[in-house]
Amino acid sequence: MKDILEKLEVRRENARLGGGQARIDAQHKRGKLTARERVELLMDKDSFEEFDMFVEHRATDFGMNEGAKIPGDGVVTGWGTANGRTVFVFAKDFTVFGGSLSETHALKIQKIQDMAMKARAPIVGLFDAGGARIQEGVASLGGYGEVFKRNVIASGVIPQISVIMGPCAGGDVYSPAMTDFIFMVKETSYMFVTGPDVVKTVTNEIVTAEELGGASVHTTRSAISDGAFENDVECLLQIRRLLDFLPANCAAGVPEWPSFDDIERADESLDTLIPDNPNKPYDIKELILKVADEGDFFELSAAFAKNIVTGFGRIAGRTVGFVANQPMVLAGVLDSDASRKAARFVRFCDAFGIPIVTFVDVPGFLPGTAQEYGGLIKHGAKLLFAYSQATVPLVTVITRKAFGGAYDVMASKHIGGDVNYAWPTAQIAVMGAKGAVEIIFRADIGDPAKIAARTKEYEDRFLSPFVAAERGYIDEVIMPHATRRRVARALAMLKGKQVELPGRKHDNLPL
Ligand code: HXC
Repeated sequence: MKDILEKLEVRRENARLGGGQARIDAQHKRGKLTARERVELLMDKDSFEEFDMFVEHRATDFGMNEGAKIPGDGVVTGWGTANGRTVFVFAKDFTVFGGSLSETHALKIQKIQDMAMKARAPIVGLFDAGGARIQEGVASLGGYGEVFKRNVIASGVIPQISVIMGPCAGGDVYSPAMTDFIFMVKETSYMFVTGPDVVKTVTNEIVTAEELGGASVHTTRSAISDGAFENDVECLLQIRRLLDFLPANCAAGVPEWPSFDDIERADESLDTLIPDNPNKPYDIKELILKVADEGDFFELSAAFAKNIVTGFGRIAGRTVGFVANQPMVLAGVLDSDASRKAARFVRFCDAFGIPIVTFVDVPGFLPGTAQEYGGLIKHGAKLLFAYSQATVPLVTVITRKAFGGAYDVMASKHIGGDVNYAWPTAQIAVMGAKGAVEIIFRADIGDPAKIAARTKEYEDRFLSPFVAAERGYIDEVIMPHATRRRVARALAMLKGKQVELPGRKHDNLPL
């Protein structure tokens, strides 16, 4: 009996070595952890339960016979807990056939995807792989297809997070692309459909892997990645932090954590956040940090479309999604990038029942050929669509400008805002005073005194929250220092919000 038990331990030890010590050393030399080390860091201590440790590939072509089998077949799968909450994980093991995806490797991932769906718990994929197992041909492509289909079926049901911690090329890129979030590790990870060699052959461009698909590209230009971290350890700790904000599934409701931050806390410094000069910027993140519990804010896509800020925080211990125009960048204008960034975030929050708090200071949509040619109408419509469709609690605070169509888009009363507040400094109008006067009093343009008088008249009448408040478009004009308390009370009141949308197969979001 003892013999048999010992044999199991030997088999396990052998499987844990993956592609062998030399390849593990090479992995470490590159500044990367191994798949199992990563899983250990992601999960609570001793909570990880591995599945399918002894699975081997079934290929026989190209020398893939008995001698070329490694238990586990290039992916570590299982479940465990992160801060006590169940999480499923698969981690590509680069030391085994470069983490490439074979038929059996894909079956292991599918099993975990199916289990995560049955248990209605989040799934995290850690990527470090060379794409399709070349020796397996279409069996590998079929495996990818099975994984993709499951990604789509799970979308909006359980949170799916992808973390790129090494190469992620070919077939490996599309599963992350269909998950909710993608994070990368700086310098050691890259993502592309076709690598530098193919690019050179097809387009004659000479680029490095980093230039083509490194974290710097995907967090700032393509917006494929929602964030990048310095190294494996920091990255995995931040994923644990993110998981703490997320519901287990679309029906579970937001997690509640103990909060030591009084919801009655007034912040007098907010009364002077808005500069006297309406064209002077200020940092909207200051408001988010002062409203959120303990100033804890998990920002997403921080390096892309910085004119809008998105991320998770908590109020009274419960997760909220913050969306806020950022006056520090392009005066907080809505452009195509900002619209699609915020639209995706709003849709995630709505899918998972996370209330949305929107802070508005927006001078309008960005004019110009670059924007119009780039599809501003469709991209702006994505955000409008996302907010209009949302049935989660929507609490909106206009701090300063809410001009033109952007007023409507930013969770206004008209498209579903439940509680719409404005600070006394709010300016809610079709446009700013200068532009408005130049259009409606064109005949007076040659007379500076008349124009000045008209401008003053326009500012006094329209550049305040009261015209909107008189119509009930704003529920209440609130003191800036009371924002946390007012938002917290509104969210508490809306906790049981229920809205029924008409039945349909699905909507037709302007993609
Ligand atoms: C089988 C692979 C492999 C693959 C790497 N390996 N990729 N084995 N299939 N796709 C193996 C190598 O043979 C090597 O084995 C080990 O993994 C490490 O690879 P290296 O090349 O030594 O490592 P490195 O220099 O770091 O380069 C990593 C890499 C490179 C950039 C990922 O390996 C590479 O370019 N691989 C091929 C990528 C690719 O073209 N994949 C197919 C994409 S097509 P040993 O035994 O020497 O350690 C695709 C289509 C799917 O995915 C579409 C579905 C929709």
